[in-house]
Amino acid sequence: MALVSMKDMLGQALAGGYAVGQFNLNNLEFTQAILQAAQVEQAPVILGVSEAYIPYMGGLPCIAGMVKALIAHYGITVPVALHLDHGSSYDVCIQAIHAGFTSVMIDASHHTLAHNIEVTRQVTQAAHVLGVSVESELGRITGREDDLVVDEAEGMYAVAEDCVQLVRETGIDCLAPALGSVHGPYRGQPKLGFDRMAEIRDLTGLPLVLHGGSGLPDDEIRQAIACGTAKINVNTDNQMACTATIRNYLNEHPDAYDPRNYLIPAREAIMAAVRAKIQLFGSAGKAGGNLR
Ligand code: 13P
Repeated sequence: MALVSMKDMLGQALAGGYAVGQFNLNNLEFTQAILQAAQVEQAPVILGVSEAYIPYMGGLPCIAGMVKALIAHYGITVPVALHLDHGSSYDVCIQAIHAGFTSVMIDASHHTLAHNIEVTRQVTQAAHVLGVSVESELGRITGREDDLVVDEAEGMYAVAEDCVQLVRETGIDCLAPALGSVHGPYRGQPKLGFDRMAEIRDLTGLPLVLHGGSGLPDDEIRQAIACGTAKINVNTDNQMACTATIRNYLNEHPDAYDPRNYLIPAREAIMAAVRAKIQLFGSAGKAGGNLR
């Protein structure tokens, strides 16, 4: 099946009370594992590519080519969106679209609201001409580099009125409001703003996106879905599953040298982790429907 945008898959998820997983690509093995997990679970899936991974994985055309070739090789029939995660500029979003990405996130959340709206509007205008979906962020989703404790994140919650203005003036397809989730491992108890989440869902009517989906308790994930979250981003949990498997293998086999010996079990561990998330998010068996 050809790559699709996120628009219809997220609309159906919001209406159906489940969430589609965005699983980030780190390399070939992650891409293989995520595609096969989605196929086995008969789930729509979003392959996320963070801007920092573009040079690491050999550039946008290489990534898009790899994804398309694997879809053909494995006979993947479930809907797959190829999505730029946290695009920092209009230019990188357009480059991703040019390379064949079917969805982009423009993250201008660290700018003023006016600037965020302006650049998001420009990206959306261009993307929609080509049927590409657009996600944008409001507030600050922190983590790793920012080195903040979770409690401090509350002051950075997205403001509902700002979300309404951004949605109205840009025409985006889904919104990632910062509501206490963080990228990477949580330091302390996560404190998600569920009331604000439901308020933003009610005021905008758009599918909401939860970044930092790793390490959240299952009941918080279910509550987020009940409050309008239709897309959940996961990377760290899959990275941990991969690296723990490699570490264990190499500890037990210090003379190993063939990468397949540890990368095949690592790939299986990623696949198991992704399948578990798909089941938790409720998107298993939801691959049907008329998706663009
Ligand atoms: P985690 O690495 O915390 O799962 O977050 C992933 C993410 O939100 C990518 O945008």
